[in-house]
Amino acid sequence: MTNITILPHNLKINARPGEKLSNIIRSAGISFEMPCNGNGTCGKCVVILQNANNYPENIHQNRLPLSISQKKGIKVLACQTFVTDDVTVELPAEEGKETLTIIDSGICRSIPLKPHIYKTYDNKTNSTSVFAGSELLIVEETNTTNEIYGVVIDIGTTTLVVSLCDISNGKTVAKVSSLNPQSIYAHDVLSRISIASEEDGLAKLHKLLIDELNHLIEILSKENTISIDRIYEVVLSGNTCMLHLVSKTNPSALGHYPFTNVIEGLHRLPAKQVGLRINPDGIVCLPPTISAFVGADITSGILATDLHNRKECILFIDIGTNGEMVLANNGYVVATSTAAGPAFECMNITSGMRAQTGALERVSINRHGDLVLKVIGDTEPKG
Ligand code: FES
Repeated sequence: MTNITILPHNLKINARPGEKLSNIIRSAGISFEMPCNGNGTCGKCVVILQNANNYPENIHQNRLPLSISQKKGIKVLACQTFVTDDVTVELPAEEGKETLTIIDSGICRSIPLKPHIYKTYDNKTNSTSVFAGSELLIVEETNTTNEIYGVVIDIGTTTLVVSLCDISNGKTVAKVSSLNPQSIYAHDVLSRISIASEEDGLAKLHKLLIDELNHLIEILSKENTISIDRIYEVVLSGNTCMLHLVSKTNPSALGHYPFTNVIEGLHRLPAKQVGLRINPDGIVCLPPTISAFVGADITSGILATDLHNRKECILFIDIGTNGEMVLANNGYVVATSTAAGPAFECMNITSGMRAQTGALERVSINRHGDLVLKVIGDTEPKG
C-alpha cells in the first residue's frame, strides 16, 4: 500500500499502488470538484504533489504535469494521475459557496389563484380536510385552514432556488438558494446523464440533491416558524435531466439517439416516494417537459409570462448552464436549447471560471500602458 497525505486537511490514507488520485481524494470523503467527470478535458482538477524530489517514481500519468518546481511542487490533473508510491497532495483552497450570487427574484404578472391543494373546515367534527384536486390527502384536527403552504423549487444544473409559498394568498413567504451539490461530480447535463447511467450513479446524484433540498426546506420552515407538516405540495421545476434525477428516474435515454425522455407530461408523486420531507401525505408535482433538452423550467416560464397567448412576436431566453430559447408569435411557439455553460461559466474548458470571487470582471489598459484588472471580490485573480 502507498501512504497518501492530503493537505490542508492533513488526512493520511492508504491506497493501492496505481490507484487514480482523484478517486483517492473522493474516497476520503472530500468534496472535490471534477467538472468534466474525469475526462481530462476541463483542466479544473489541479492539485500539487509536494514531494517533487521523488518524481517521476511516485506517480504515472496520462498527461505530463502542468508545471514542475522544486520549491512549489508538481502541478497535475488529479483525474489523470495514478499514485505508485508515497506522496503528499495539496488541494486548492475551497471556493466559498457564499461568494456566488444567485438571482432568485424577478418581475411577476398577476395570475388568478387556482391552487391544486385546498382545505375545507367541518365545524361539526371540528376537523379540516386537505385535498389535492378531488383526492382527500389528510384530515386534521381543529381548524387549520389558515395554515396551508407549498414549496416551489427551481432545480438548475448549477443552482437551486427554493421558495416557500402561502397557498391561501399565493404570496411568497421566503426564499433560499444554494449550489446544486451534483456539480462536484459534473458541471454539465450530459456528464450528469453519463454518471447517472453508471451503477449507483443515479442513487448517488439523487441523494445529493434530495439531501440539499430537504436542508433548504428545513431552513425556510424554521426561519419562518412554519411547521413542515403544514407544507403539502412541492412543485419541482428544472430541465428534463434534473427532473429525471430528482425523481430518481434513469435519464440514460436522454443521452443517445433518439433522445427520449421518460418523464413527459404532468406528474404527481407522493413526496415521501421522492424523499422530500414535508407533510407525510404531501405530494410532489413535476410540470410537463417539452423534449429531452427543453424542460419543465421552460414550460413554467411560458405559463408565467403567458407567452402562448400573446399576440406579439416575442423571444423568451433562459440563460443557464443549459440555455433555452422560445420564439412565440400569435400562439405559435417553437423552442430549442444548447449547452451554455462553457460560454458563460467556463465549464469543461481549461480557462475561466464562474462569476464569483477571483473571476476577472474587466481588463483595461490605462494611459501609461499598464494592464488594469478588475477582479470580483477585489482579490487575486483566479480565472
Ligand atoms: S476533472 Fe480532471 S480535467 Fe476535468
